[in-house]
Amino acid sequence: MWIFGYGSLIWNPSFSYQDRRLARLDNWVRRFWQGSTDHRGVPGYPGRVVTLISEPAGHCWGVAYKCGESGSQQVIEKLDYREKGGYHRESVTLNFIDGSTIEGLVYVAGPDNSDYLGPASEADIVTQILSAQGPSGSNREYLNNLANSLRDLGVTDRHVFSIESKVQSEINAE
Ligand code: SIN
Repeated sequence: MWIFGYGSLIWNPSFSYQDRRLARLDNWVRRFWQGSTDHRGVPGYPGRVVTLISEPAGHCWGVAYKCGESGSQQVIEKLDYREKGGYHRESVTLNFIDGSTIEGLVYVAGPDNSDYLGPASEADIVTQILSAQGPSGSNREYLNNLANSLRDLGVTDRHVFSIESKVQSEINAE
């Protein structure tokens, strides 16, 4: 079983795996459009975390984890609980840089979940990320971890890096 991580699962998978590989998911893009009331925000004051948005010709780089068959049910149960704030599992085809593909699972928070926030201006996303805090830590830490993890992978994501840079500008201006 392979699981694709494109958000917190990149830097904090919290399950054991047999292999970890850079992978690309086609026709989806990563966006800070999902509200978080259980990890990086609280009810009434949600943080903003990433989800995948369907976009033909778009793509999203992340990490594919290979889990052994014996422990895969436990991994799914653990992730179903962790991602319960609006995410559901989808089966997808993952692309590796050598051109090979594999079937995998990914957690997506669609527009029909009650925590979904949808698009907003970068300025509004920055303001929300700077103020939100939840049981897993600050929303700013989530953004920093994501941006640093993508750099470590050699991945460029203009949406994430632009928000990171605007957050940093706000902090520098304080
Ligand atoms: C993921 O990392 O793949 C899902 C979104 C998140 O938990 O940040």
